[in-house]
Amino acid sequence: MTHTYKLMILPGDGIGPEVMGEVKKIVAWINEHADFKIETEDGLIGGASYDEFESPFDDSTLERCRAADAIMLGAVGGPKWDGVDYNLRPEAGLLKLRKELDLFANLRPALVFDALIDASTLKPEVIRGLDILIVRELTGGVYFGEPRGIEDLGGGERRGVNTQIYTTSEIKRIGRVAFDLARKRNNRVMSCEKANVMDSGKLWREDMSALHEDEFSDVQLDHMYADNCAMQLLRDPKQFDVIVTDNLFGDLLSDAAAMLTGSLGMLPSASLGAPSATALYEPVHGSAPDIAGQGKANPLATILSFAMCLRYSFDQGDLADKIEQAVQRVLNSGTRTPDIMAKDCREVSTSAMGDALIAELKN
Ligand code: IPM
Ligand code: MG
Repeated sequence: MTHTYKLMILPGDGIGPEVMGEVKKIVAWINEHADFKIETEDGLIGGASYDEFESPFDDSTLERCRAADAIMLGAVGGPKWDGVDYNLRPEAGLLKLRKELDLFANLRPALVFDALIDASTLKPEVIRGLDILIVRELTGGVYFGEPRGIEDLGGGERRGVNTQIYTTSEIKRIGRVAFDLARKRNNRVMSCEKANVMDSGKLWREDMSALHEDEFSDVQLDHMYADNCAMQLLRDPKQFDVIVTDNLFGDLLSDAAAMLTGSLGMLPSASLGAPSATALYEPVHGSAPDIAGQGKANPLATILSFAMCLRYSFDQGDLADKIEQAVQRVLNSGTRTPDIMAKDCREVSTSAMGDALIAELKN
């Protein structure tokens, strides 16, 4: 009997539905050609969910997510919901999904495709062959720490508070993910925090060192202040293999790393929890409301996220390889969405990019 995987699809807002449309084409292709099947179900998240349920992520959708084998998400947010209460904003829906499924490990690989060397704002020699992996802690830190909120102090004065908190077990469980992945790569981990000014950063550094000594002394571990890491990513990104960092620094550093590759439209991510938990796959880019609905969005980050889904959740590494190679060939052939357009290349729409990829898969 052929195995059927259940994939929950949350297109979200802005360009989310467009880029996810291209993933659905690949799912259809797989269902025709592979020896397993993928059954998909759509759900709402972000502003789209707020408009329907007055909640950015409804409990009924959460339960359907839990029941799936994996989740693909497009993007959330947009100016339409700027006035919405903080805890009902589209972003709050994504944070709820991450927290409820305990998806504490966010893997954000930054890989430079040879064909896209010129799309980067950095010199070719700085980025050629770049292959780094940012492992971002995703369910702790200042994103979730209490107390938080805006307090009225009277007389027109207010106070905004967020709290950075990390415990030893939170630090060690994300550390283990990073060290494990480093063993399958170039065996080096750079741990980033601000141990020079933050107590949570001091604890992070001490716990990472202890974990390294106890369980991973075969892996090279170095520490770097997160601000220095931002600078080093621009100066000499190839010095890194795996970077492990907290939720907020990981958010910043992964955007910086994305741009090394030429476009935010190229960066996939996986958010993993316990081995048995449903995992979430999403592009690193946002909802890009300025280009939504115009067929200009680059679907490759979402398609590469789907390749990660095939690899990590469906155990279909060969097919993931195939999709990644097809992306490479499409780029080599000069097919480009506007964000990565270059001289002598052919500019295509979101949908034509998806079609070009399917054509390569058929080869
Ligand atoms: C990301 C995004 C999110 C984050 C937003 C949309 C909540 O920037 O996934 O990097 O800050 O984590
Ligand atoms: Mg971000």
